[in-house]
Amino acid sequence: MPYQILFVCLGNICRSPSAENIMNYLLEQRGLQGKITCDSAGTGGWHVGNPPDRRMAAAAQKKLNLTLKGSARQFQPSDLEDFDLILAMDGDNYRDILQLDPRGSYHHKVKLMCSYCRHHPDDDVPDPYYGGTDGFNYVIDLLMDACEGLLDQLRQDSVC
Ligand code: 4NP
Repeated sequence: MPYQILFVCLGNICRSPSAENIMNYLLEQRGLQGKITCDSAGTGGWHVGNPPDRRMAAAAQKKLNLTLKGSARQFQPSDLEDFDLILAMDGDNYRDILQLDPRGSYHHKVKLMCSYCRHHPDDDVPDPYYGGTDGFNYVIDLLMDACEGLLDQLRQDSVC
């Protein structure tokens, strides 16, 4: 049974689909696909069914030659049970997820994405939606740092 990771942001069209696709890219590069599966979701439901934001897709293509795949879905309480690790892009996402777990049963599975960064000091992956191109490019750099740190941690923990 693969280890299942869920990346979560607000809309599931910018940050979390990028994290999912970058992680899959690293897993493939290292021959680890199949050991870990990745998915993403948004705490909000406004963009359900939509593909990744075209500005986010352009940044991933330009910086990593990576084509973002996926369609947005909303985070559900059952995700808390179904996934092994749930990574929130920012503090708001983190709190919104934990609100769906009033007994705290799954608190241990929920972490902040930036806690895995090794080169960036950020606590949050900043929401790029209302900003310009630089913000989208920065999200890609930050997520690559976090995904590399995450993958190394999972290897240390013998998950893959
Ligand atoms: P995301 O970005 O949470 O990284 O997918 C956003 C997407 C949409 C909105 C906000 C942030 N929105 O307000 O519609």
